[in-house]
Amino acid sequence: MNVYDAQRMVDTLQPHGFVETASADDADLVILNTCHIREKASEKVYSELGRLRVAKDEAARQGRRINVAVAGCVAQAEGAEIINRAPVVDVVVGPQSYHHLPELLARAERDGRALETEFPAEDKFAFLPPPKPDVIRARGISSFVTIQEGCDKFCTFCVVPYTRGSEVSRPAAKIIDDVKRLADNGVREITLIGQNVNAYHGEGPDGRIWSLGTLLRHLAEIRGIVRLRYSTSHPRDVDETLIEAHRDIRAVMPFVHLPVQSGSDRILSAMNRKHSADDYRRAVDRFRSVSQDIAFSSDFIVGFPGESEQDFQATLALVTQIGYAAAYSFKYSPRPGTPAADMQEMVSAEVMDERLARLQELIDSQQSAFNKAAIGTTVDVLFERAARNPGQIVGRTAYLQPAHVMAPETIIGRVLPVRIESLERYSLLGELATPLVAAGETMPAHISETRMGA
Ligand code: 5AD
Ligand code: SF4
Repeated sequence: MNVYDAQRMVDTLQPHGFVETASADDADLVILNTCHIREKASEKVYSELGRLRVAKDEAARQGRRINVAVAGCVAQAEGAEIINRAPVVDVVVGPQSYHHLPELLARAERDGRALETEFPAEDKFAFLPPPKPDVIRARGISSFVTIQEGCDKFCTFCVVPYTRGSEVSRPAAKIIDDVKRLADNGVREITLIGQNVNAYHGEGPDGRIWSLGTLLRHLAEIRGIVRLRYSTSHPRDVDETLIEAHRDIRAVMPFVHLPVQSGSDRILSAMNRKHSADDYRRAVDRFRSVSQDIAFSSDFIVGFPGESEQDFQATLALVTQIGYAAAYSFKYSPRPGTPAADMQEMVSAEVMDERLARLQELIDSQQSAFNKAAIGTTVDVLFERAARNPGQIVGRTAYLQPAHVMAPETIIGRVLPVRIESLERYSLLGELATPLVAAGETMPAHISETRMGA
């Protein structure tokens, strides 16, 4: 979501005369868009601010001013502290108020510094200017669209409900408009994003409340959109319309990111996850019952307070049982203001390291087995861009595996079958399985529309 928010900040500033620079050294304004989810992410902000202070001083000596803004969830959580600790910072802006960036910059110019970390009553999306057609094209054929923000689940380890605020769904008509504009300008794949994306319950143009499944159904009908994804889902909010979307809609990719965090019911309960390990298994089974080729990824936390070896074994058992195509795993990081931060029984750093290594080894072996299984098969690839190797084009399979082929750049934006020949680390290498229409000539991009919808 920070990638998406950063792009929207650029869109917000463009009408005010800003253009994006390739390097911070050339910039009049540097925005650090920050993450507060774990301590490591948070700490980066202060080391980066140290570097920026040197650049700012150097620019000042040359008579040039660099403004520094801190945006995102660290800004939200630690705004006042940033202002006190880092004189280099001119503007602090939280994730729900970055549409005010132009005013805040003007205020900083006038008063020296400006801070806004309120959750404004208005909806920021109503004030964000849409990206310009040339900007959309430059960003490529795959795009994020925020459909929902915030979270009301209050897992005991998590800062999101405090930094992003309570759960809000955008109206479906606005999302459809956004997706149409992106599709008209070359975007072929949309990833719908939200902290709790499958809790989506936005107002539909028909006056009813739409679920994520219903929204996916309507987005699949938009001309040019060939792939739809969504992230991140909560196991409790998997409803029938979402399962049906996977059953019926070809554009909905059979790859679901469904975080579980732990395989132990005792720990899941202490985490306030509101689901058991068996609830999770059942959610996975529901997806699998409608689509044979569906694959899963997940998030795991090791070393949550009180996690015993037995609890951890339950996590390993769950991973073994589900079989993931990919997964992210993290050491528990106490976050200020969350209930888990006050829990006793901290797991030692050594035990956390050791458990993380064991979990990652298991996940890596599942991921390589999943990737190896693609060798010798023919899979659909949506081509994204020229690869670093001259003549090669890189795209992604349904499971987000990068796939490289030798082909003309005209295939960018198209879904084509690829015969996979080998695997190099995480990348698949192969050949186009069908000849292009004629030498040097390819079918127009809209051919991929045949793959749309139910
Ligand atoms: N410590 C470690 N990992 C965390 N995550 C969220 N909060 C914490 C924390 N305090 C992980 C979860 C979540 C992912 C986005 O980050 O696994 O799904
Ligand atoms: Fe955080 Fe996800 Fe739990 Fe919400 S559901 S509190 S975003 S971990």
